[in-house]
This record gives sequence, C-alpha cells and structure tokens, in this order.
Amino acid sequence: MLLLHRAMVLRLQQACRLKSIHSRLCIQACSTNESFQPQRPSLTFSGDNSSTRGWRVMGTLLGLGAVLAYQDHRCRAAQESTHIYTKEEVSSHTSPATGIWVTLGSEVFDVTEFVDLHPGGPSKLMLAAGGPLEPFWALYAVHNQSHVRELLAQYKIGELSPEDKVAPTVETSDPYADDPVRHPALKVNSQCPFNAEPPPELLTENYITPNPIFFTRNHLPVPNVDPDTYRLHVVGAPGGQSLSLSLDDLHKFPKYEITVTLQCAGNRRSEMTQVKEVKGLEWRTGAISTARWGGARLCDVLAQAGHQLCETEAHVCFEGLDSDPTGTAYGASIPLARAMDPEAEVLLAYEMNGQPLPRDHGFPVRVVVPGVVGARHVKWLGRVSVQPEESYSHWQRRDYKGFSPSVDWDTVNFDSAPSIQELPVQSAITEPQDGETVESGEVTIKGYAWSGGGRAVIRVDVSLDGGLTWQVAELDGEEQRPRKAWAWRLWQLQVPVPAGQKELNIVCKAVDDGYNVQPDTVAPIWNLRGVLSNAWHRVHVHVAP
Ligand code: MTE
Repeated sequence: MLLLHRAMVLRLQQACRLKSIHSRLCIQACSTNESFQPQRPSLTFSGDNSSTRGWRVMGTLLGLGAVLAYQDHRCRAAQESTHIYTKEEVSSHTSPATGIWVTLGSEVFDVTEFVDLHPGGPSKLMLAAGGPLEPFWALYAVHNQSHVRELLAQYKIGELSPEDKVAPTVETSDPYADDPVRHPALKVNSQCPFNAEPPPELLTENYITPNPIFFTRNHLPVPNVDPDTYRLHVVGAPGGQSLSLSLDDLHKFPKYEITVTLQCAGNRRSEMTQVKEVKGLEWRTGAISTARWGGARLCDVLAQAGHQLCETEAHVCFEGLDSDPTGTAYGASIPLARAMDPEAEVLLAYEMNGQPLPRDHGFPVRVVVPGVVGARHVKWLGRVSVQPEESYSHWQRRDYKGFSPSVDWDTVNFDSAPSIQELPVQSAITEPQDGETVESGEVTIKGYAWSGGGRAVIRVDVSLDGGLTWQVAELDGEEQRPRKAWAWRLWQLQVPVPAGQKELNIVCKAVDDGYNVQPDTVAPIWNLRGVLSNAWHRVHVHVAP
C-alpha cells in the first residue's frame, strides 16, 4: 500500500524506456506550438532535431531518463494544462483501451501508465477510473502528501471545464468521521487510519496498560458494530456444522483470562529509518502494550464446528469487519496447530482489562494469539475458516515479513519469506529518554522486555557506557509460566552515576529462556519494511553538573 517511493522509481524507469518514442512526439508538439491532443506513441521520428537527439542519446546512455521524463512532463503540462475536459469526457476514460483518467480538484490526469505501478494494486486505483480521487484519498489518507501530489502532477493532461468544477458527485464524506475519540496522551503516528502509541514514560507506569493508552494499529476506519446483531461466522469442517455465534453464544463457552503483551512488527521502526529509509509508520518504542484479555478459547469454538487437528499443515484464517472500498477485509491467519493447541491459549476475546473491548481494539470480538506478532490478532472479527493454505490477505502475504538488508523494493520477493508469527526477544528503555538531563548521584533506568512464542525473559542487562560494562536489572511484574510467558517483564536499575561523568550512553538488552539475545546494532537487521527492529536500545543522556 505505501510503496510510493518505489512507484516513483518504477515510474521513472518506465519513463526511461518510453522516452525514446514518446518524448519525441512531445518535443515535436512543443516546438511546432500545436495544441496538444493526447495520442498514442507512434514510430514517426520526423521533426526530431539534432540537438534534441543529442540530449536524448546522452541521457539514455547516462541513464538520465528522469531528466527526459521531467522535460517531457513539463512540456506536456505546459501544453495540456490549458486543455479543458468535461466530466463526461473524463468518465468515458475507464479502461486501458480508452485511457484511464481521474480528477483531483479541477485537474484531470491520465494515469493509464501508472495503474500497474500503483502501490496498493491496480484494482484500487481502477475504482477511481473516470472520476474523482477524493473519496479514495479520504480513505487512504497516506496519499495526502506532497510527494504523492508531485507524482500525480506528472500525469496531468488538463483541467475540468468550469461548469464541472463543482464538488464531485461521488460521496466524499470522511470514512473516518465515525472513528472513536482517543486519549490525548497518545502520540499519533497517523490520524487516518488511526495509529498511535503511548509515550514511553506512561508505557511502563503500569504493568497492565490502561485501555485508553494501549497502542492502536488500524489499517482502515473503525467499524461501528452493533453488539445485538453481531454474528461471528465460523465455517464448519466437512461433516461438521458452520456456526453463526452471537455475543451471548460466545459467552456460553468456558471463559479464559490471560495476560498477553501485544507488539506490532513495526515497533521501534524509527531506529531502522535512521540507518536507511524504510516504508512504514515511524513507531518509536511504544507499539507494544499489555492487557488482561477475557474470552472463549479458539480451540473450543473450532471443535464445536467439527474441526480437529488432522490436517497439520492447515491454517486458520481470520477476517475483520473493517474493509476497504473494494470490500476487502483486513485478514490474517495462524497455523491450525497453534489454534487447536489448548496450551497455546488462543482467545476469541470480548474483554480487555475487565471491560468490553474498546472500539479501537476490536469491539466486540478480536483474536488474541499469545506470543505472536500483533498483525495476527485480528480485530472486529467477522469470520473464521480453516484453509489448506495461509490467508491470501495482503497483510499475511505481502506485508509483515522480514528480508535481508540487501533486499530492496526492486528485488523483493514476498513469496520467498515466511510471514512473521512468533516475534524475537525485545527490550527498550522508557526512562530516562534520549537527550534528557539526569541528576548526578543516582539514576533510575526503567524499561520493558518481552519475547515471542511464550519464551520468558530471564535477564535484562544494562550498560551506562555504550556496552563496555554491564549490570543486571531487577525484573518486576508478573512471574511468567514456563513456555507460556505471554506477557512482558518491566525492569529497572538504580545505579550511581560514575563520578565526573558528563553524559551516559545507556543501553539495554534482554535474554530469553532460549538464551536468545538482541543484536547489538540495527544495520545488520535493517529490512525494507522496517519490521523486527530489536537491536540493543540506546539512549544518550546528559548529567547535570
Ligand atoms: N485487525 C483488523 N481487523 N484490522 C487491523 O487493521 N491491525 C493489526 C491487528 N489486527 C488490524 C487488526 C495489527 S498490524 C496490529 S499490530 C494489531 O491489530 C494492533 O492491535 P491494537 O490496535 O489493539 O493495539
């Protein structure tokens, strides 16, 4: 969805390939001052003067297609921006055969060449074909950025006729208008869809994160689900029966309560960005929170629908009730083996810290998969089915996967990597914060530590000198059960500030019960999506004189 930079690069690459034909037509049109008519490239090279040819050959040789693309588009813009189109003309351009046109405000764009390069997939852009982009940009607010507008500007072919410059007839009401009110303490990474994290100093204030400041990761508007009419559809096994469960039905299953830490794969992505640009929201250390979840066990519900663990390679696919304009719901899956294992304690949760789930966190029912990346904890759960393969959802197959630092957007093959399930060991410092000034004498360092797959954190090491010497922190919070350490440990260390020290390079690293440790630096684990960022956490502080 967010691979806009890549799209720009691809666009320029494509522009390079097309220039040898297309720019000649434009140069000819400009130099002869003919009024521009959108036209398909032809192989007629007449009118191509030698200096233009010289530049083109050199540009091609040097790989400077971008220059030509810019020249081409400036030329087109100069000629075409004055061209006036009616709304009817625009609406007749909805296919590759006619050309695919869209409007934004009063401007008209021919995006035929861009459709296949659209980061969210061609089908999403085709929804706007022949009409305004506004309703879709309102939903995918990520488009409202200057580089996206610059990209679009390259495809401008003219203006809407004055009488058509009225508000678009298509419904443009804000799809996020019905989102819930949020707590003002949250640090917002994106308003629409809403993504926010608690500030570090609040994050470790409580072992259980209060609901209003639990981090929120939404990909779409929050659905407003009526609890009275809500039904969870569970597709039955062959020979079993499909279920349509109301909230009351779910409450009839034995209720389980477990404390589970939920962490987004993108937690601490901002540290990866400092190494090299990545695509994704700039999460700091707060895309992680802990709650006491209550609900029915998934294995009990699946068993009632006739499912057994006979097909060990199968997956349980979840669909949310949040969906994009194509009707595509958020989806993800986990292996059936995990879902059916009572020891894995996968919940269909309807309670969070003793309350009905807040809307942002999946009201009325969400999946909670202890020890597993947040992306699989599907909120506003609408449908559960058992499939031979994992979910075909974008978020299962085309996102939330890790790659070598050598892989970029031109070489990435999402099919080559498994989807993230269990997360690696993680820890971060929440106090003091980077850049703070601490008192000389004694400093208290606080933070959290957690590991995926139920692996318990057995130790947190803290250094005041960038990792030269270490001290062991005190672990607080609930003691975790062996192989079921679903929740984090908070930790702290009170230490004297070494005399004469003007600054401290504080570092933490956790060790889990598999003796997995965090890597020391970010660069070797950098990946293009900025996921699994778990290097030693470092904060630099000044010591008060
Ligand atoms: N479920 C639905 N239906 N839609 C979503 O956008 N986001 C996922 C997951 N479940 C998401 C979803 C991601 S990526 C994460 S990290 C967690 O929800 C975040 O859960 P939270 O917002 O309750 O913290």
